[in-house]
Amino acid sequence: MKNLAPETVAAQAGGGIDEATGAIVPPLHMATTFIRDPDNQYRKGYSYGRPDNATVRQAEAVLTTLEGGAAGLVLSSGMSAATTAFLALERPAHVVAPKVMYWGLRKWLAEDAPSLGVEASFVDAADPAAIRAGVRPGKTRLIWIETPANPLWTITDIADTAAIAHAAGSLLAVDSTVQTPVLTQPIALGADIVMHSGTKYLNGHSDVIAGALVFARKDATWERAQRLRAMLGTILGPFEAALLLRGLRTLHVRVRHQCAAAMAMAQHFACHPRVEAVLYPGLATHPGHGTAARQMAGGFGGMLSIRVKGGEAAAIAAAAKVQIWKRATSLGGVESLIEHRASIEGADSPCPPDLLRLSVGLESPADLIGDLEQAIAGAT
Ligand SMILES: Cc1ncc(COP(=O)(O)O)c(C=O)c1O
Repeated sequence: MKNLAPETVAAQAGGGIDEATGAIVPPLHMATTFIRDPDNQYRKGYSYGRPDNATVRQAEAVLTTLEGGAAGLVLSSGMSAATTAFLALERPAHVVAPKVMYWGLRKWLAEDAPSLGVEASFVDAADPAAIRAGVRPGKTRLIWIETPANPLWTITDIADTAAIAHAAGSLLAVDSTVQTPVLTQPIALGADIVMHSGTKYLNGHSDVIAGALVFARKDATWERAQRLRAMLGTILGPFEAALLLRGLRTLHVRVRHQCAAAMAMAQHFACHPRVEAVLYPGLATHPGHGTAARQMAGGFGGMLSIRVKGGEAAAIAAAAKVQIWKRATSLGGVESLIEHRASIEGADSPCPPDLLRLSVGLESPADLIGDLEQAIAGAT
C-alpha cells in the first residue's frame, strides 16, 4: 500500500512477511557467503557479507522510507556513517561545519580529516550569515550541520542552509540524530544527505552501536559512500541490524514520550533557584525556538541541558547524587542519562563547565524531576 503513515511503516518493520515461513518478524540473515547460480551469476543479489546483507537492507529500507530518501546505507557506527559522508566527497574538499556539534566528529574534522584531503571551516551554524561567510564558492563541497546540536541544542535552519549550500554548488548533510525522522525530515527541507547515530533514538535501547546515511538521490556521492563501506568493511553486523530494526518499530512512541517528558523537565527547572539556565529548544527563551517550532513537528526532542548554579564543582556534585538518572555518556535510550559534558569534550569545546546534559528516557517524568531536584539540592 502507498502513502502509509511513517509509524505504520516503522511499527511493522516495513510491512513485509517472510516468504519462506510467513514470519511477521523480519528474519535474521547471518550468512557471510551465498551460492552462485550454475551459470556463475548471483541472481538473488547477494554474494558476500561485507558489501551487503539482507537484514541490513531491511533496516535501510525502513529508514529510507522514514526519511523520504532515495537510498540508505547502514553502517557500523554513527562515526563511520559521518566519516564516510566526508570521505565520499571529491577531493580536495573544503567543508563547512558547526562550532557546536558532536565533539568526536569535530575532533576528527579538525585533527584527522586534513591529511585525508578534507579541510573544515567551523562556523556559528545558528547564524545563516556566518554559514554563508564560511562557504568558498566552487571549493566547498559540503555544509555539515547538526540540529539540535550537542550539547547546547543550537538550532540551524535546514531550508535556509540548503539554499546557501546549493547556491554555492555544495551539498548539505544533516546530523539528524537528535531530531530523528519522527520530528524532522531534512530531505524534504532540501538536505542532500541525512546522517544518524543509530546508537541513539533509532535503536533506542543502549545495546547497539550503529550509524546510517540516507541520500536524497542515488548519485555519485551515494555510489562512493557505498563503495567505501564495502571496501573498508564498515557495514553493520546482521545481529545488530536486527536489533536496530526491532528498535525502529517503537521509535515514534518513544520519541513522542521523550519530547513531552523533556518539555516538562525544561519547564520545571527553567525558574529553579539553583539552576542558572535550561537549554532546550522547546522553551521560548531558547534563541532557536522559532526555527525549531517551524522545522520540528510534534516536539522539540528528548535532549536538554541545565547549567547548575555554583559552577563546575556543583554540576559534578549534582551528577554524583542522582539515584534514578544514570551517570553515563550517550543518549536516546529508554533509561535517562545525565552527563557532565565538559569532562568529556576537552579544551576546545564550547560546552560551559557548569553544564549537565540530560537524555530523557521512558521513566515517569515525576520520578526524574524529583531525583534531579534532590541531587541539585544536595550539591549546592
Ligand atoms: C549527534 C551525534 N552524532 C554522531 C555521534 C556518533 O555516533 P556513534 O557513537 O554511534 O559513532 C553521536 C554519538 O554520541 C552523536 O551524539
